[in-house]
Amino acid sequence: MAHRTRIFSGIKPTGHLTLGNYLGALRRWAEEDQHRGEALFCVVDLHALTVEHDPARLRRLSRQTAGLLLAAGLDPAVCTVYAQSHVDEHTRLSYLMECVATDGEMRRMIQYKEKALRARETAQGVRLSLLTYPALMAADILAFGATEVPVGEDQAQHVELARDLAERFNHRYGPVFTVPRATVPPVAARVMDLQDPTSKMGKSHASTAGMVHLLDEPEAVARKVRRAVTDSEPGVSYDRELRPGVANLLEILSSCTGKEPAVLAEGYAGIGALKADTAEAVVELLRPLRARHAEISADPSHVDGVLREGAARARALARPTVDAAYEAVGLMAPA
Ligand code: TRP
Repeated sequence: MAHRTRIFSGIKPTGHLTLGNYLGALRRWAEEDQHRGEALFCVVDLHALTVEHDPARLRRLSRQTAGLLLAAGLDPAVCTVYAQSHVDEHTRLSYLMECVATDGEMRRMIQYKEKALRARETAQGVRLSLLTYPALMAADILAFGATEVPVGEDQAQHVELARDLAERFNHRYGPVFTVPRATVPPVAARVMDLQDPTSKMGKSHASTAGMVHLLDEPEAVARKVRRAVTDSEPGVSYDRELRPGVANLLEILSSCTGKEPAVLAEGYAGIGALKADTAEAVVELLRPLRARHAEISADPSHVDGVLREGAARARALARPTVDAAYEAVGLMAPA
């Protein structure tokens, strides 16, 4: 099947979006991906139900995440922005994916092992949906015939599984699915936690001191950057292995300015000045985004409208493929 570029990615509304989400994903979606073909960006709210959650918070974060996607520059006239739970095709296809995948495959997923370990310590136990999560994620991707899936390195294994499931399905039942591939950003696009520069700045992290949230006040942003953990070496040099904290600051500044981290390092005699410049650069980077978000959230019916139209478009795109998959496995076409 010859296909033009079709891009699908999703973002889980499990926390406030961070600078890491912006530099590692949203910015590229807005500046490049949405213009490169038919592109869909989905608030994957069903995935947020796979670990303990609070309903009111989920509702709030889902709406905020959608608003931030628009504030970051995704343009509903150019791409499709919608909520996963608004389009039944995701769960319809997820069931078929569960019938193609094996339980061993699911249990091998690194994210499942890590999250299950944590969830096992809670009173509520491990939700079955945490295990079947990759089947739903494969459905997200395959329902749209996505050719490319821009994700972080941590999601590459799930996209690989989606490829396996697509190939297995096509082999068993006929050529229904396009086989997608992950497009992982260059390593420098990975923003690390400012307090713990060897782990990713993730939105579900327990402590927020090392995380810059997209909607943080400028003073808070500057404070967090200035308090970043570095090291006691003199001067500034770029070495990810030996000086992860300094390297993280240089990479953040690099993402803001477009200059190479190693080149930037040469311009600093001390860490204080690097922190000050990085703080200012991040504040300025986020300023227009915050302003657009304030405008967008002043009119909640705007986001509602975008999501409604996005869902209608997504449904129309996914429906024929999911119907074809239902028929291919031998289910009766409804009369
Ligand atoms: N699992 C992804 C994450 O945790 C989110 C996601 C869900 C996704 N479905 C997707 C990403 C489909 C890309 C394509 O970040």
